[in-house]
Parts: sequence; C-alpha cells; structure tokens
Amino acid sequence: IKKIGVLTSGGDAPGMNAAIRAVVRTAQYHDVEVIGIRKGYNGLINGEIKEMRSKDVSNVMNLGGTILHTARCPEMMTEEGVSKAAAIYKILGLDALVVIGGDGSYRGMAELAKRGVNCIGIPATIDLDMNCTEYTIGFDTAVNTGMDALNKLRDTSSSHERCSVVEVMGRDAGYIAIWCGMVGGAEDVMFPEEKDKIDSAKVIQQILENRSIGKRHNLIVVAEGVGGTQKLAKDIQEITGIQTRATILGHLQRGGSPTATDRMHASMMGYHAVKAILEGQQNRVVSYNKGRYEVLDLTEALNMEKHLDREIYDVIKVLAI
Ligand code: F6P
Repeated sequence: IKKIGVLTSGGDAPGMNAAIRAVVRTAQYHDVEVIGIRKGYNGLINGEIKEMRSKDVSNVMNLGGTILHTARCPEMMTEEGVSKAAAIYKILGLDALVVIGGDGSYRGMAELAKRGVNCIGIPATIDLDMNCTEYTIGFDTAVNTGMDALNKLRDTSSSHERCSVVEVMGRDAGYIAIWCGMVGGAEDVMFPEEKDKIDSAKVIQQILENRSIGKRHNLIVVAEGVGGTQKLAKDIQEITGIQTRATILGHLQRGGSPTATDRMHASMMGYHAVKAILEGQQNRVVSYNKGRYEVLDLTEALNMEKHLDREIYDVIKVLAI
C-alpha cells in the first residue's frame, strides 16, 4: 500500500476533521501517501486533489465542518459519473479510498467497489441513521447543540409561562429528537419512527393536564421527519390559549466544535480505517458496536438493520410528570 485517497461526503458533521487528521497521520506513520479529495465525490470526478501531510491536519481537531469541504453529488447516481470517479481513482494510482460520510456516501462506495475501487467507509452524520453502526461521527455534538438550545428556550419560555415547540434535524430518523427530548427535559417528543401513532390532540391534552398539575411552561420536541412544527404551535395556542412559539434549529445543529466523544470516535475510526487498508482488507466500513470498533464488509453493512431505542421515549414520558 503506497497511496490512499480521503474525502468527506454528504452533509458535514462535527468530527469529520478529527477523522481526516487520524487518516492522514496513521497513513504517514506507515509511510503511505495521502491524497485529499475536495468536495466529496465531485472532487474525485473533477480531479480536485492535493497531497496531505501531517502538518496539513495540524489544529483541525477542534474545528467543525470539514477542511476538505463536502457536497451531495448527483453525478454519483449516474453510470457516467461513477465510471468517471473510478477512472480517476485509477489514474491517481490510489490503493484505497477512505470515504467519511453517511448512508448515501456508502451507497456511492458500493457502486465504486463494483468498478474496482477499494473503498473504506467511516460513518459520519449527525443523524445516527446508519444501520451498520451504533455511533456516527457528529451525533454527540448535534445533540449537545440541541440541548444548549433547549436550555435557552427553557429560560425564555418559563419566564413567559409559554409553550415552546422545537424542531430538531435528523432527516427521516428520530435519534436526535429523542436524545434532545431526554437531555433537554422535554414533555413530549414526536419522532418519525412512530409517525402513524402521533396524535396532536393527545399532545395538546397532555399540555393542559401538565398545566393543571402546576407546570408553568411546556417544551415539546418535534423531529424534522415529522415536521408541521409551525402548525402544531399555532394549534396549541389556539386550542389551549397558552402562548406558544415554534423554533426550528435547522443547520445550527450541523456546526460547532466537536465534543470529546466525537473527537474520540473520529480519531479511533480514522486509525482503524487505515489499519484495515494496511492489512489488505477490501471494501470495508468501520463501525462501533457493543463498545468496540469493528471492520465490516461493505455489502453486509448496507443490508444491516437497526432500530431506535424506544425505551428512551418511554422514560421521557415517565420523567415528564
Ligand atoms: O443528514 C444530515 C442532515 O443535516 C439532515 O438532518 C437534514 O435532513 C439534511 O442533512 C439537510 O441537508 P442539506 O444540508 O443538504 O440541506
């Protein structure tokens, strides 16, 4: 193994820089050259590259975003785009390509693998919605950002004795929502995995009951995948007469300096990715399961299943009395 490429792909996630740093430094430690590819698969297709050495990843561990920049790449959905990316990989003389990203990026890897590219994945998305791993880089920072926001909203909503409805990111998954709901002390959380069971009349009824037992303000978390946050806030206000405000956190949750947890996982995963390449492993992903880092087959990883831990929601409801 002489030369590897590294790119970040899809939505950025805090901790991606720590992962890049670990890849570059582990490779250099073993005398392997690293080519940094800009803007995800776009940069591979367009040959936007630069050699990366240890000093290029100094002082990046603490930075949010990704120093390699990232993009969602529609061209990777086309035969032409994938073939071009695979051809550039060969022209560059790469022995492996490390892809730091989420599910969509992993699907791109599977297509490249069919065309002779040796892909190694590192899971990074704030959403935690990757079935092959219990942890994805960026999740902890996003939840902490959500928690900070909920703390601040609690200050103002309790001062005004209002109801606050807060929408958090997560695409079609509710991991961020239930974690934010628990650690932010929300009364209720609406998450997409149980979208069918959501009954806003019940949520409103619960708000009234909570007021009747002495609560003076309310905090409801809504996952992006459920949506309708503004409408829910309007309905609560109209039906209960309680002043209600909606807040959509949006991309705020994608930024910020990564937490210690994200830096730790990113560093360990970056290290394990390069180690797998050095061992001659082909088309693998690094995962964190049952307290250990493991290297899984890419195809198997894409076929795995994972379910949101509903117990967290049940406990939120117990603690909301
Ligand atoms: O996957 C991360 C994420 O932030 C999701 O939570 C959200 O649905 C999506 O990306 C937003 O994508 P974009 O940044 O392309 O608008």
